Amino acid sequence: MENDMRQELFSHMQNLSFSYYDTHQIGRLMSSLTHDLLNLSELYHHGPEDYIVYGLRFIGASIILFSINPFLTFLLYLYVPVMLAVTIFCSRRIRRISAQNQQNISTVNDQAEDILSGIRTVQAYCAQKQACKSFSAQANAFLSSRKKVYLEETYPSQGLLFLSRLMFLTTLLAGGISILHGTLSLADLLAFLLYINYLTEPIEKLAWMTTQLQEGLAGFDRFMNIIETPPQIVDLPDAIPLENISGEISFEHVSFRYHAQEPEVLHDLSFRIPAGQTVAFTGPSGIGKTTICALISRFYEPQKGHILIDGNDISQYTLSSLRSHIASVRQDVYLFNGTISDNIRLGKPNASEAEIIAAAKKANAHHFIAKLPNGYQSQVGPKGIRLSVGQRQRIEIARAFLKNAPILILDEATSALDYQSEKEVQHALEALRTNRTTIIIAHRLSTIRHADCIIVLGKQGILEQGSHSELLSKNGLYAQLYKTPTENCDTYSLI
Ligand SMILES: Nc1ncnc2c1ncn2[C@@H]1O[C@H](COP(=O)(O)OP(=O)(O)O)[C@@H](O)[C@H]1O
Ligand SMILES: [Mg+2]
Repeated sequence: MENDMRQELFSHMQNLSFSYYDTHQIGRLMSSLTHDLLNLSELYHHGPEDYIVYGLRFIGASIILFSINPFLTFLLYLYVPVMLAVTIFCSRRIRRISAQNQQNISTVNDQAEDILSGIRTVQAYCAQKQACKSFSAQANAFLSSRKKVYLEETYPSQGLLFLSRLMFLTTLLAGGISILHGTLSLADLLAFLLYINYLTEPIEKLAWMTTQLQEGLAGFDRFMNIIETPPQIVDLPDAIPLENISGEISFEHVSFRYHAQEPEVLHDLSFRIPAGQTVAFTGPSGIGKTTICALISRFYEPQKGHILIDGNDISQYTLSSLRSHIASVRQDVYLFNGTISDNIRLGKPNASEAEIIAAAKKANAHHFIAKLPNGYQSQVGPKGIRLSVGQRQRIEIARAFLKNAPILILDEATSALDYQSEKEVQHALEALRTNRTTIIIAHRLSTIRHADCIIVLGKQGILEQGSHSELLSKNGLYAQLYKTPTENCDTYSLI
């Protein structure tokens, strides 16, 4: 069951949208996948068994005690409601505190994940001490909440122990008086005292079981919380697969903000990219170029307006068919821990080795891959750390070649390459662009001058658009940017 739940949770996480991951830390989700489900399986492993075994013992002991002396048994039973009340009262508190405790361990996980992923930056800035300090703050918070849980757990167990000893004492007193009155024999009293343990033990055990139950249930709550979060972006009920596309993309009065209460990133943006053409976006960083690309793949949905491919709103297509028609080369390349070959194969899962090599050749990556000791079977390390940024970017380009999709998005695709490699990859990208609708985002204006249309974005939206020569003859902003010899970012302050 634990395994099934873990896999179900993981597969649910696969479909949660970008916006969910914008606001939820990975460490927290990790502890749900591991720790919470472990607690839960402890509960349903031992729980039912314990409840049955101790329940039977309690009933059996009651029958035996009743047959020895009904009056003494009745006296003992007066304690039972008190014991139950103690258990219920304490278990509510434990549940609350253990939820807090779980929150704290998740924060520890989040922090560890965050700092260790950025360990290179930490060491480069000699920030180990600060890292340890902020980590120990979280770790100490966890320690104190854990202490609270342990303390809280002692109340029911010690309370019930105390009550069970009181039961013993009551029996001794009442039994002694009964013997004096001649209504009970000494042998019966001794037998009675021996059997009392069978009655009190299940109740004491109840306290321990309560703790287990509360911890398990708190984990189950968190599990349900994630499972019941619907993916924000899903196929509409009547979604159709996107097939035989020509690749015309248009934005109609699109307004978009990432999260409510945040300012709009795009406001009333409209443009049209005819099928097979190349459109370049340029503008200062943070203006929303990457956001436009994310919207085309429907990773986020605009609050207002429509995005159309071949004249239909993209939300009318199934997500998988839409995304399979778009290949993107992004500025932040992510490689998975595995071989180079596996990483390129992401573009087409059933690709043969020959196809992978062909794609790598086109992306100008074959040369460096062949030089590695294990060639295409070389391990790239976690997040591709064993390759240079430029090499990673070429692997991403190889993925795009392999995917062979009709819409191509190049988001600062060559920004990490040196001049020579960029020139070589540029040829590859020219080849990749033919007969595809292409969106290029670049700062270096030399990279985009061949585009059919160049759109200059500013805070107010589209400032200028047209081909390179049209924009130059207009002698506007683009012309000014183009003529400035140092293409530094300051030029964008004009916008
Ligand atoms: N996941 C996100 N959540 C919230 N805001 C974001 C997110 N990604 C980008 N932004 C904001 O949206 C704006 C546009 O970002 P982006 O599209 O990446 O800019 P560009 O690619 O033009 O440099 C920026 O101001 C940035 O702060
Ligand atoms: Mg960007």
